[in-house]
Amino acid sequence: MEITLALIKPHVLRNAYAFRQIETLIGNNFIVLGAKKVCVTKELSERFYAEHEGKFFYHRLSSFMRSGPCYAFILQSESCIVKWRQLMGPTKVFKAIHSEPSSIRALYGLSDTRNACHGSDSEKSAIREIAILFPEFKI
Ligand code: CMP
Repeated sequence: MEITLALIKPHVLRNAYAFRQIETLIGNNFIVLGAKKVCVTKELSERFYAEHEGKFFYHRLSSFMRSGPCYAFILQSESCIVKWRQLMGPTKVFKAIHSEPSSIRALYGLSDTRNACHGSDSEKSAIREIAILFPEFKI
């Protein structure tokens, strides 16, 4: 069994219908080990997205993530990193709409920054990201 961090971005959390659809999808596919609303601070965003510092979208991404609460989940299942990333679809919303039209990002993404959700890309990232958003969680 694997675990991963799933993060629902602010504009989706403001859309009750979209958030309910995603919660149902998560409930049908994973064991939820943790779930909470997170108000991303500047410090939290800098730690979470440290690998993107210096990229052209970094400040845009950081201020968007602080524009309202996010919702974070710790998910568990067989191969859950890949499974959640498949449900999300490609990072770029244009690509998601064309190649994975029923994915979360195709349905609820608005732009490459406002791409609806995030998922860890490896076991190492999952452990790092869970430790940032769920410091109380013991892996
Ligand atoms: P996320 O899964 O949260 O991880 C890093 C984020 O950077 C990504 O989703 C996008 O929101 C953002 N991102 C990646 N590439 C671009 C890009 N080319 N333009 C704008 N934002 C991007």
